[in-house]
Amino acid sequence: MDRPRILLTRRIPEEGTARLFAEAEVDLWHDGSPMPRSALLDRVQGVDALLCLISDRVDAEVMDRAPTLKAIGNYAVGYDNIDVKAATERGIPVFNTPGVLTDATADMAFALLMALSRRIVEGDRLVREGRFKAWDPTMLLGKDLAGSTMGVVGAGKIGSAILHRAKAFDMDLVYHSRHRDQSLERELGARYLSLDDLLRCSDVVSLNVPLTNETRHLIGARELSLMKGDALLINTSRGPVVDEKELVKALSDRRIGGAGLDVYEREPLLEPGLAELENVVLAPHLGSATVRTRARMAKMVSDDILDHLSGKAPKNCVNPSVLGHILGGSG
Ligand code: GLV
Repeated sequence: MDRPRILLTRRIPEEGTARLFAEAEVDLWHDGSPMPRSALLDRVQGVDALLCLISDRVDAEVMDRAPTLKAIGNYAVGYDNIDVKAATERGIPVFNTPGVLTDATADMAFALLMALSRRIVEGDRLVREGRFKAWDPTMLLGKDLAGSTMGVVGAGKIGSAILHRAKAFDMDLVYHSRHRDQSLERELGARYLSLDDLLRCSDVVSLNVPLTNETRHLIGARELSLMKGDALLINTSRGPVVDEKELVKALSDRRIGGAGLDVYEREPLLEPGLAELENVVLAPHLGSATVRTRARMAKMVSDDILDHLSGKAPKNCVNPSVLGHILGGSG
């Protein structure tokens, strides 16, 4: 095959894209902001592969614009922005970046938790505004993590890494997941609970599920009402897993203790009232945002696209049945 044509919808770290630029004709959207849908629909025509971001909605319309499309690589582990069913129907493999961002994202959940439980952001504001007058025995008192209960919802790679970190903080561990994980129970002493029981007993609830039809609004008014009055909710998964309107109500009425959010229901828009609350810490979707992780993600997704286009087996495919079909194997 000649040099494949690849549409890259936004600049990603150069450390991970040397091979991509060496081996392919890359059409890079240079704008520095997400590619508008009209530009995506226009520029995807005639490409062999699309390397896109979570801010790009890649549906049947996009795929049908590009009958030559042979691969979609998502620069993320989550792929709810891609219609995988439509891709599978068209024989197009979808690649993502699992594993390389596990530690960075688990660290981010803990960064939010520590900032929230020890009121770091409120303290930072106080110091910058010149309101730090003297050490004060009652100023900005937070919560201890040791001895409190960490409840992880979704014990995949990232959820498990959060449980490992929580163990090191001497927290009691509970989790809820589609499948029980005996190694978490054996090695960490984590207890499996139903979602309702987890919400009732956790001091910290960390959300780590992928966004699917089943997990959309997994945490709504009813679930928030089950949580302890001083519990903290940490979300580093996807915004729509939480009903953000109900969350703002629960936080405003102090029915839960606080929230540390890296993701939002209508990202990048915020639910009105959220940014006015003191008991929240808000980050701009930084879960995987470390220099090393973002470079590894770039290399991983580029390698899978290029390997696939040159007939080699890719490593991370979310719809592998398509590869079996193309390669004539058993899937
Ligand atoms: C980021 O949110 C990702 O899914 O990698």
